[in-house]
Amino acid sequence: DLKQEIQRLEELFTVDTAKLKAITDHFISELQKGLSKEGGSIPMNPTWCMGFPTGHETGTFLALDMGGTNLRVCEITLPEEKGEFDIIQSKYRMPEELKSGTAEELWGYIADCLQQFIEYHHEEEKLDKIPLGFTFSYPASQDYIDHGVLQRWTKGFDIDGVEGHDVVPPFEKALEERGVPIKLTALINDTTGTLIASSYTDSEMKIGCIFGTGCNAAYMETCGNIPKLEHMKLDPNQEIAINCEWGAFDNEHKILPRTPYDIIIDKDSPRPGQQAFEKMIAGLYLGELFRLVLVDLHESKNVKFFEGQDISALQKPYSIDASVLSDIENDPYENLQETADNFKKIFNITPTKPELELIRRLTELIGTRSARLSACGVGAICKKKGYKTAHVGADGSVFNKYPHFKARGAQALKEILDWETGRDGKALGKGHDPVEIMPAEDGSGVGAALIAALTLKRVQEGK
Ligand code: BG6
Ligand code: GLC
Repeated sequence: DLKQEIQRLEELFTVDTAKLKAITDHFISELQKGLSKEGGSIPMNPTWCMGFPTGHETGTFLALDMGGTNLRVCEITLPEEKGEFDIIQSKYRMPEELKSGTAEELWGYIADCLQQFIEYHHEEEKLDKIPLGFTFSYPASQDYIDHGVLQRWTKGFDIDGVEGHDVVPPFEKALEERGVPIKLTALINDTTGTLIASSYTDSEMKIGCIFGTGCNAAYMETCGNIPKLEHMKLDPNQEIAINCEWGAFDNEHKILPRTPYDIIIDKDSPRPGQQAFEKMIAGLYLGELFRLVLVDLHESKNVKFFEGQDISALQKPYSIDASVLSDIENDPYENLQETADNFKKIFNITPTKPELELIRRLTELIGTRSARLSACGVGAICKKKGYKTAHVGADGSVFNKYPHFKARGAQALKEILDWETGRDGKALGKGHDPVEIMPAEDGSGVGAALIAALTLKRVQEGK
């Protein structure tokens, strides 16, 4: 019966305290390995963003944000004195076909959007080249801040001829062909932008995180702790932001409690064997996990699930967005009426009451696992760095919109870091938890502009 199935799913998807701690410990050693000369599966990419902003950064910059869902162009003027940023911005759709099209189409489309933005906002003006901070939220190895070799596509992107190459020359070529007056100053990751933008307004910010289509974090490391940079003879006390790319944690499948559904997601993805951690927790995959479980139940000989119903609409891979799970979790448990209506509308399926209850429980299990596993990454950085207290700036659709994600993550951190009381011995909770994950400033807008400003300053100072 369905109660037994719920119990089976609970066992598959629940991560208890002991497991959270074991995962966190392994995570710490993998972060360390990523910084070593031999390297590990977490890339721990040096970003050449050297230290935090001082608050004296000024100027006008363009920021281009290529995440996974939207393409955004901003023009940001940093204030003379620390204060409000002046921002104008436009959002463009990131067409689905582009994600598996050609490199030329990708760079052409982005350059067209930038051109449109400049023509609209600077009509008829003769412009010098405007400095641009480009937030390219994929793993890139960088020898300088204005270059970046794509290590591999993540988040379902699959465009030939980009991996293993510097992404800047083809991007600049597309701009030149269109005569767009822009000079790329810094190529950054969304997590680095989040870290820098958040630290500008809050000096306790130690980590920048994205919990969205993908999942990742950046933090500030001292060069002396990065053996793989030893050959560069940098000042060991110099700080440099590290883009962890922690989505790749446990690609060796040593510790994460993968379910048969996680294994299918990986196998059917464009990059099997990559992003093991991300595939269990990030927004892109939550709906697909949910769908795979429902289809499996329908096909199972042990239970009757959606019996006699046509489930063809449910059989299409990646047809369920994480927002569908959010809506189900927000639907009052008593009658789950909206969930019933949505299943009828979206999939032409009429679930029974016990089926609705299983569906609801399943969304809780998937959402809770995502938040609890994500907390292991945050806990690992804090333990590695010895942070007893910290603010963590977070952005992304899962963090901002998925119900209870923040509370579930906070609960898991409490278990991982063994807190009994909060800051100042006060009761735990918002404002008192020693490490608190909070909404970030706009990292890919303000953060990109600040990093571009910091870079220009370093260039002027001849560093
Ligand atoms: C946005 C940032 O707010 O969040 C992007 O501007 C970032 O840079 C994004 O990539 C992550 O969230 P999602 O849900 O769009 O992947
Ligand atoms: C993926 C990308 C990473 C990015 C994250 C969040 O993990 O590889 O660069 O920061 O998604 O957008």
